[in-house]
Parts: sequence; C-alpha cells; structure tokens
Amino acid sequence: MSAIKSSQTTQLTGTFGAPGDKSVSHRALMLSALCIGESRIIGLLEGEDVLATAAAMRAMGATIDRQDDGTWVVHGVGVGGLSQPTSSLDMGNSGTAVRLLMGLVASYPMTVEFTGDASLCSRPMGRIIDPLRPIGADFDASEGNTLPLIVHGTGTPLPTEYDVPVPSAQVKSAVLLAGLNIPGTTIVTEREATRDHTENMLRAMGADVSVIQTDNGGRRVSLKGPAELIAQDIVVPGDPSSAAFLIVAALTTPGSDMTITNVGTNPLRTGLFLTLTEMGADLTMLNERIEGGEPVADIKASYSPLKGVTVPADRAPSMIDEYPILAIAAAAAVGDTVMEGLAELRVKESDRLAAIVDGLSANGISVDSGDDWLKIIGTGGNIPGGGTVATHLDHRIAMAFLVMGCSAKSPITIDEDEMIATSFPTFLGMMDQAGANIAGVAS
Ligand code: S3P
Repeated sequence: MSAIKSSQTTQLTGTFGAPGDKSVSHRALMLSALCIGESRIIGLLEGEDVLATAAAMRAMGATIDRQDDGTWVVHGVGVGGLSQPTSSLDMGNSGTAVRLLMGLVASYPMTVEFTGDASLCSRPMGRIIDPLRPIGADFDASEGNTLPLIVHGTGTPLPTEYDVPVPSAQVKSAVLLAGLNIPGTTIVTEREATRDHTENMLRAMGADVSVIQTDNGGRRVSLKGPAELIAQDIVVPGDPSSAAFLIVAALTTPGSDMTITNVGTNPLRTGLFLTLTEMGADLTMLNERIEGGEPVADIKASYSPLKGVTVPADRAPSMIDEYPILAIAAAAAVGDTVMEGLAELRVKESDRLAAIVDGLSANGISVDSGDDWLKIIGTGGNIPGGGTVATHLDHRIAMAFLVMGCSAKSPITIDEDEMIATSFPTFLGMMDQAGANIAGVAS
C-alpha cells in the first residue's frame, strides 16, 4: 500500500487516448468466450478487473491470448460449452465481473465459488441471487449475501421474467447472460434505462434480442435461448468514465487544455458531459463517429470557470460512476451543486457518498448530505486542500482526489494508489505527462 500526494500545478496539457471501456471489455471477453469460432478484440482495457475476467473465462475452458500488437484473440466454447473451473474464481475488486459471471454460470450444471478483495467481499450480491433462484440456481453466500459465495448452477434452467428493482446494468446483464443457456424467452424489465452494452453486443453476435421502450423511460429486454453466438471482431471504445478524470482535471486546473481521443459517447453513459456543459464547461466534441457499433468522439476540454447546478435523480444511471469526479468539479465551481438520486453510490467499490463527503471535508470543502443526496458548496476555484483522503480500495475516489490536488492550494494525499490499476492503469503516467505534480509520500 502506498500513499501518494497531488500538488498544485500551473497547467495540464496534451492529447491522450482514453483507455478501453471497462464495461465493454468485460462483456467482450465473456461473450466471445461463448461464441463459436475465433473473435479478435481490439482496444481491450488491460486493467486488473478485466484481466480477472479473462482468467475466469480461461478457467472455464475458453482460449484467450494477447498478441504482441495488443489484439486479444479468443476461441470460444459455444453457449452451453463452459466447463467447471477446478478452483475458486478470485474476481479481485470487480463487481461487474463477479455479478455477470454469477448469472452466466447459473444456467450450467456447475458449482462455482467466487471470491474477491475486501471491497468486493463487502458488496451486496442478493440483488443477483434473487433473480437467479427462480431459474433453478442455488447459492451458499457469506453473511449478508456477500462473497465468498458458491453458485450451484442448474442443468435444467427455466426462463424467467424479472423486473429489476434498482437501476443496475449488472443485474440486467446477469439475468440476460443466464438466459443465453436457457431454452425459452428470458425477459428483463428495467424502470430506468441503464447502459446497454450487453444487449448491443449480443445482437451483434447474432442472438435473438429485442428491446422495447416502456412508457416511463424504462426498457423491456427479451432474449430467446439457447442462443448461438457467432464470433466477431470487437472494437472496444475508450471509457468515458476514465476520460472523465482527465477532462475534469483540465476544466478545473487554470490554464489547462487537454484532448482525450476515442471516448465512448453512448447516450446511456454521458450524463456527466451534459452536467459539465450545464456548469459552463468548455467541452468540444470532435470527430464524432461510430466505431465497433458504438458512438465515439475526441473531447477537447479547456479550463473553465464552472457554476453550481442541480443534477436530477433521473440522470444518475447515465453517470453513476462519475459522481466522485463531478464532486471535484462542484468543489471548484461558483455556487452550490446538488446531486439527487445517489442511493446506489452506497454500494459501489466503497460507500462512495460517504467517501466523497469525508474526502471533501478533509480538504476544506463544505458539504451537506442525506441518505441519497449531496450538496457541495463551491469555492469558485479556491480549494484549500491539505487533507488526506481514505480511498477504501476505491479507484474512482483515488483518481478524483488526485485531480483535486492539481488545483488545490495545499497538496492532497490519498492513502493508497494501487487500486487505480483496476480500471485505468495508465492514469498516473498520463497525468505526469500532462504536467501534474503527483508523487509518492515517504512512509
Ligand atoms: C456496470 C454497471 C454499473 C457501474 C459499474 C459497471 C456494468 O453498476 O457502476 O461500474 O458494466 O454493467 P450497477 O449495475 O451496480 O449500477
């Protein structure tokens, strides 16, 4: 564990490629491992979370190799062809990996044990267990439906119809992945639309998936199983959730000007960019295009005096991972920013609402919060800093506060930097090249 410190810098500049999208990368490995034939994945995120998924799919029979040029080549086993892993699957810090894989293995006659790090072992898995029981799977979980946990899959799974009670692409995807190996139609209804990468990739691979918009902004997704998935070339877009850290660093550090290339702009992921624009951010979308079936753009961000806004609850699903970095933009803004509908932040890699409140307070920012809301009193660019932030093994808390240090009057220390590698292994290198002053703290 190593603490690092981010100190004020004069400006951040440069052009950087966004790292591969984490959500798309997990799905690319899982689904290509279920295809018949050879898939090639270009732009895969080589972060620890995604590497854990690669290891799990290998343990269940897929052949997955990285070529020297960075292309990943996967020989799938076909839907129904997974084999029982011989030891427990350690998914590290990754909620997405464990939750999607719990769904995937539930419709196989296999017994699979999942475990993870301290953060992952504290996260709720009941939300995945509940919809998978009716298909015939059984579970032995640790207290409070947490990891370590054993999934007893079933060889005679039944199709299910599930109304997801919380906005969660992980829950939706877990049920759909179970449905791949279930004869009949699996139906998932979500009340608010969440990221649709699973549906999009399944459709591209030839699965019979249909999506109907519901009256209130939700969606009903139907999948006919058993599916036959055809191998593809998959181009992974850059991750808007990672690009967000560089973009807000440029917006909040005086004199900065950065361009982040190849950023995914799927509308179910871009709530932060809309919010920043409402705050007065100088953001320009360049070279907008479609790559690998997903919209992408290069985003130019220049230092901007920001103003506080109210972020409505119904925007939360499209920016659910971006609240830590939005909090940094809000602290730099003139006026108050209110964020609503944040209940899901309590069950991320950390209790992110508490971690944001504590981190801001430790650095001289006034905040107010409730169970599912947060109010940040903007400083108009006068961020005191000087505090130490407890990251609770949360990569996004770590990166957000390092960004805040770039414009704070006194350096900001985070208690450890290791988890950054789960989603954005090149973050510190890019920040260094851009001109940030981030360095280790002697212990
Ligand atoms: C993800 C869905 C979201 C998000 C996570 C990635 C996905 O989680 O926070 O980082 O890839 O499906 P929830 O489904 O819990 O909202």
